[in-house]
Order: sequence, then structure tokens, then C-alpha cells
Amino acid sequence: MLNENYLKLPGSYLFSGIANKVNEYSKKNPDADIIRLGIGDVTKPLCSAVIDELHRAVDEMASADTFKGYAPDLGYEFLRHAMAQNDYRDRGCDISDDEVFISDGAKSDSANIQEIFSKDVKIAVCDPVYPVYVDSNVMAGRAGDYDEMTSGWSNVFYMPCVASNNFIPEIPSESENIKLIYLCFPNNPTGEVIDKENLQKWVDFANKTGAVIIYDAAYEAYITDSSIPKSIYECEGARTCAIELRSFSKNAGFTGLRLGATIVPHDIKFYSEVKKEEVELHSLWKRRHGTKYNGAPYIVQRAGFACYTDEGKKQIKEQVAGYMENAKFIKNGLKEIGYTVFGGENSPYVWLHTPGDMTSWEFFDLLLEKVQVVGTPGSGFGPSGEHFFRLTAFGSYENSVKAIERIRTL
Ligand code: MLT
Repeated sequence: MLNENYLKLPGSYLFSGIANKVNEYSKKNPDADIIRLGIGDVTKPLCSAVIDELHRAVDEMASADTFKGYAPDLGYEFLRHAMAQNDYRDRGCDISDDEVFISDGAKSDSANIQEIFSKDVKIAVCDPVYPVYVDSNVMAGRAGDYDEMTSGWSNVFYMPCVASNNFIPEIPSESENIKLIYLCFPNNPTGEVIDKENLQKWVDFANKTGAVIIYDAAYEAYITDSSIPKSIYECEGARTCAIELRSFSKNAGFTGLRLGATIVPHDIKFYSEVKKEEVELHSLWKRRHGTKYNGAPYIVQRAGFACYTDEGKKQIKEQVAGYMENAKFIKNGLKEIGYTVFGGENSPYVWLHTPGDMTSWEFFDLLLEKVQVVGTPGSGFGPSGEHFFRLTAFGSYENSVKAIERIRTL
């Protein structure tokens, strides 16, 4: 009766577990001034270009001649076009409007995308990894069994991302028969990036082996170094092997509004044993969207559109730059104190090594109890995250400064 795969999942979702722990602490210590640099949730208000567009769109809903009901299930053309043009074609990537599928965010898309693949494909993930990729495959019955000794799943191929490989996963051997590869750059949680040459190697590997790359580009807005690709479609041949996930959460602060997109090029095709012909993945995702999704709200898509106006682009850039100041401050501050620190340069995440041989969760407890700073234990992202800890730059500048001052006292 039950989908028992759900019961295989150990504990709760990482960020729900942390929130519960922090709430418990807060109940016991009602006066504690807690600084939350755990979940990557933004704190700056939506920029005025977005707010103004929201107001206009809300007013349209109040009048019969401009009212909008169900949105087109794949997204409004105005937004699909704006994304394809600004995020892709203007940067030299060949993506057409109808390859952009608008959704309520990259989290749900990254969890749902596995549905269009067969149950028995083998997946590969970076380790550490954003837990949604793995958990959603566990729920679907694709991950095998959990091994407490290794903190990993029997059918998941883990690619360690550690200091010795500059946090860039090594290409697996072809004999592993990996068919679905999840990559996220700038990376969550390590905050590290991949250059074009290394990303090209992944694209070449996927094309050679008939694998698909799910490329999570939710943090692309944080890339300031022009040699770092903002999209996998900057690589040659990516149209035949890569699906890209995009988000409005981290660049434009839509964590509460919910808006994202998945790019599925028509050129990714596989032979269907049932149809006895090549089938586009695009057609499966389109069918899925049509059946299971009624489209992101009109007013939210209009807000998304505002991000592509001149004013919107300028304001969003300023917001991102503000968060990057926090990242710089946190990274430099921790370094000065003596921590070994990674990320935080083309990314809002700072990834630090815990002091001595402290585990990630011991360090979490220490920070919460002694200085009331919340971060995310690296081991929550996978076995190779043990002895690491993630701090986000999404707080206010004042809180970023205060957090470092408090950590300095430890
Ligand atoms: C994170 O903190 O890793 C992210 O904010 C979680 C998310 O985007 O769902």
C-alpha cells in the first residue's frame, strides 16, 4: 500500500531538521539573538522593478478584461522568450523559447526531473550534494539501499568533491554505466566553480556514453569571473545531453514568490523500446508538465519578466553584489581567524573546514550554543562533507559582520 521507498530515507530533510533544532534552542533560550546563516534563503526585499510589476499585475487581476485564469502550463510566452533571449541567445547559447519550461522553482524541478527516466538508470552525484537530487531518486525507488557505514545509497555513484580535486568531480569510468549525472555549479554546498574546459569534458563524456547531465545553474548570477561558464550550453554539444535548471530565488530573491525554469533542448533524444523510434526528452517533460502542473501564477511570471527589464537587471545586479560583499567579508574574516575556507568568490556559499577533528554536527552545536550562529553541517550534504561546514552570504551585512565577530571569540 505504501511507497516504502519513503521509509528508507533516514531522518528528515536536511533543512527541516536544522530548523527544528534551531526552534528547540530558541524555545529554551527565548532571548537568544540567533544569526541564521544556514539555509540559503535571501533576506533583501524584492527590488522595486519587481514590486512595481507585481502591483501592475495584481491590478490586472481586479478587472474582467485583464483578469488571468490558468496560466499556460509551460509558461507565458513573454517570460519564456525573455529567458531564452537574455539568459541564452544574448550569451551565444542556442536555446529556443519553446525549450524553456517555466515552473515554481528549481527545487521542485530538480526533484521531479528524474520521473522522465527509467527506474533502472544509474545516477551519479557530487559528494557533497544538494540533498534533493538524492532524496527524490530514493523516493522513486532508484537509489537502492542506505548504508549507514558509508552514509550512502547502494545504487548511487558518489563523486567526491574535495580540496585535492579542487571540488570538481572526476569523470567516472565508462564501465560504471552512469546514465544520469547531477552537476551544480557554482556548487551548492562547496561554493566552488567549474571552468569551461572541465565542464566541456563532462559534456563530451555524456555525449560519448549516452548519459544526460542535469545541470543546476541556480547560482549563476554570482559568477563574476568571465572565464567561468554561466550555462552548460556554453559548451559545445551540450544541446544533445544537458538539461539545465534555473531559479529566480537566489538572483532576484524569489524564495517566497517561487519561480524557476528547466531548459530541455529538442536535441536530447533516446530510442524508445515501445515506439521503436527516437523520442525527444522534451516531449516527455512537456507531457509531464501538462498533466501535473497548472503553471506558475501570472503575477509571479510578470515579476519574473521584470527581472529582464533594464531597471530590473540593474537592481538585481546590485542585490547580488551586496550578497557578494557578505561572502567576501565572511571568507576573509574566517581566514584571518585561522580557518581553512573555500568557495565564496563566485558563489554565495562559504565552505569551511571545522577546527581540529570536530565533526560537522559538533561544530554546528558549538556555534549554536556558544555564539548563536546557525550554519549547515557539511555531512548533511553527503559523506565527503564531513568535517566541513557551510555559511551563507544571504544574511544582512550587519549580521555577517556580527557572526564573524562572534566566531572570533570561540
Ligand atoms: C540551500 O540552502 O541549500 C538552499 O537554499 C535550499 C534550496 O534552495 O532549496
